[in-house]
Amino acid sequence: MPRLEEFYAVWEQVLKSNSADVLNEIKVATIRGRGGAGFPMGFKLEACRNAEDTTGNGTPRKYIVCNADEGDPAAYSDRYLLEQRPHRVLLGMMIAGYCVGADTGVLYIRAEYPEAVEIVKQAVRDLEAQGWIGNNIKGSGFNYRFKVIKAAGAYVCGEETALLNSIEGKRGEVRTRPPYPAQQGLFNRPTVVNNVETLACVPWVITNGGAAFAKLGSEKSNGSKLVCLDSGFKRPGIYEVECGTPLAKVIDELGGGFARPTKALHIGGPLGGIVPLQKINALSIDFESFQREGFLLGHASVLSIPQDFPMVKYLEHLFEFTALESCGKCFPCRIGSTRGKELILSAQDGKKIDRALFNDLIETMEIGSLCALGGGLPLGVKNAMQYFRTELDEYFA
Ligand SMILES: Cc1cc2nc3c(=O)[nH]c(=O)nc-3n(C[C@H](O)[C@H](O)[C@H](O)COP(=O)(O)O)c2cc1C
Ligand code: SF4
Repeated sequence: MPRLEEFYAVWEQVLKSNSADVLNEIKVATIRGRGGAGFPMGFKLEACRNAEDTTGNGTPRKYIVCNADEGDPAAYSDRYLLEQRPHRVLLGMMIAGYCVGADTGVLYIRAEYPEAVEIVKQAVRDLEAQGWIGNNIKGSGFNYRFKVIKAAGAYVCGEETALLNSIEGKRGEVRTRPPYPAQQGLFNRPTVVNNVETLACVPWVITNGGAAFAKLGSEKSNGSKLVCLDSGFKRPGIYEVECGTPLAKVIDELGGGFARPTKALHIGGPLGGIVPLQKINALSIDFESFQREGFLLGHASVLSIPQDFPMVKYLEHLFEFTALESCGKCFPCRIGSTRGKELILSAQDGKKIDRALFNDLIETMEIGSLCALGGGLPLGVKNAMQYFRTELDEYFA
């Protein structure tokens, strides 16, 4: 990491540039969201730039919100960035703010990352001391300030609209869309919500040019991606790889292979897919290969499922997790996750599950849920039913 003055030289250049040109670099780079869904960052920025604050409450305002709630088990790349590279994230938020005309950046940081909260607060103080944030920054006429918020401790508060409610001091409940946050987000003002890693890509893009970023990676996934390997690997840790890198290479060359007999990988968090070992060679670290094979790259956490861990217990845990974390707003998730858990528990007591009923349940959750908590759970369940059929068959009628 270069000295701060060197690192922020690009910020002083940005402040002298046309904001549409800066946004154009991000669009050319085609940065896709690293938080899970892979949505192009440039689209959101442009929508927010074109939106008006219609609240009529005082000075019109827009926000950049950094989603640092990182709740996926086995994911810790956002933590790494916040603790070790806080200025990459902050500068990314400042540049995003400049593109859309936002004057406030809000970081919503997982409360279980207390060091990250303190490190980021100190980094903000350093920026203030250098005059890189505040009013009329370096005579540019642009104002920017930060607010750091300790998150509320619920997985669902990582969902962008529940997160906005949580910042507003409300219950962490998902909002219906439209309106999208870019139109009416935090306090109903135009807001861009991006993941930590997505925002951390921005300084590199502006320094090296959008085309240089676009050149890296695969056809539809540009740049690099942080991948987290859990303790089931010989060399667990965070690895940065160019998008398109074969998953097998990450596992064998970087992770050193499995540290214990393993039967599957749960990639992309609890709402991601369950990848059996025979599918590893079909996957690379990009959104498209995961989608093609019926899995999800998500935030790219890799959790290994031990050979001797019963898949039925794993599914029980997934339903239980969703039931506990459901915000309760929609029936398919609130009731479906609890019913799924009950069915799987009773199957372990000898009462076989009606397969058609179970399929109806997960289909209802998948297509009827308001957000990807209830809507995403069925993916892993369906993968397990497909690839671990022989193990699970005894629980189904
Ligand atoms: C239940 C749930 C939890 C989520 N948790 C996170 C999270 O911890 N961090 C994150 O960046 N995105 C999370 N997301 C995705 C966000 O809703 C949103 O898509 C993301 O912050 C957008 O940023 P990106 O485009 O940079 O990925 C979650 C989504 C759902 C449905
Ligand atoms: S799917 Fe679950 S978490 Fe999402 S809105 Fe519905 S009840 Fe809330």
